[in-house]
Amino acid sequence: MLPQGVPMFAEAIVRGVPKTLDAGITSADLGKPDRAKAMAQHCQYVQALEECGLEVTALDADEKHPDSVFIEDTAVVTGRCAILARPGADSRRGEVHGIEEALSGRYENIERIGDPGTLDGGDVLQVRDHFYIGLTSRTNREGARQLSEVLRSYGYGASPVETNEFLHLKSGVSYLGDEDLVVAGELAASKEFGRFDKIIVDSREGYFANCIRVNDHVLVAAGSESAKALIAARGYEVIELEMSEFRKIDGGLSCLSLRLPGRDGGVYRTAAGGEP
Ligand code: GLY
Repeated sequence: MLPQGVPMFAEAIVRGVPKTLDAGITSADLGKPDRAKAMAQHCQYVQALEECGLEVTALDADEKHPDSVFIEDTAVVTGRCAILARPGADSRRGEVHGIEEALSGRYENIERIGDPGTLDGGDVLQVRDHFYIGLTSRTNREGARQLSEVLRSYGYGASPVETNEFLHLKSGVSYLGDEDLVVAGELAASKEFGRFDKIIVDSREGYFANCIRVNDHVLVAAGSESAKALIAARGYEVIELEMSEFRKIDGGLSCLSLRLPGRDGGVYRTAAGGEP
């Protein structure tokens, strides 16, 4: 049985749904997102984070950037430092400016990925003190190298993971804690993840591998009874959330927030903290 009441995250930052949402980048053939529905789904998402005990800061929508609601891609946030990403899609690069201000009030140490590196936060999976960095169409080797170097300078480990099948690494893999890894498609056979207790999601339902452990709960996208049942069978308390409108523009649950551990005296410092 999993330990209950373990405070893994204390706060989250989300960003409003822009009026331009329907211009978001997509590879899906699911039609245009309906903004009103997307706003309702976003509201339920925020409520779920609050139900899990997080204090949620909502930044204003960034109308210039249709994909900006997917705030996770703009930064990597840890217990010791924050790293501003350099998104791989040109249309998303400007999203980072808006996040810098929010993080500068919270972090003593803010680092950044520089040209010619590209990196999306959705490609970065933290497992305790180690970070897996997906090499994808959004994150290049130089971006992964820069991030690894920064993370190592703060005492973390880092390693790259090749993936061709998913937009982002975390589109196909999520860490729940206690060595439980939800995984789909090619990542199920990845050597990098050989040591974990895998919950393998059917490749036809790969979208549902993107879920998030938030303290005592796991947030999952509604629509896959089998993925939900597999996760619940491991003893997790599941909260299902409707994601239909974000899925239309390739967005998953994790992309909608930056989740931060507790702060030491109001600010994230260099000293190693107890991380999940
Ligand atoms: N539409 C989400 C992304 O392409 O990053």
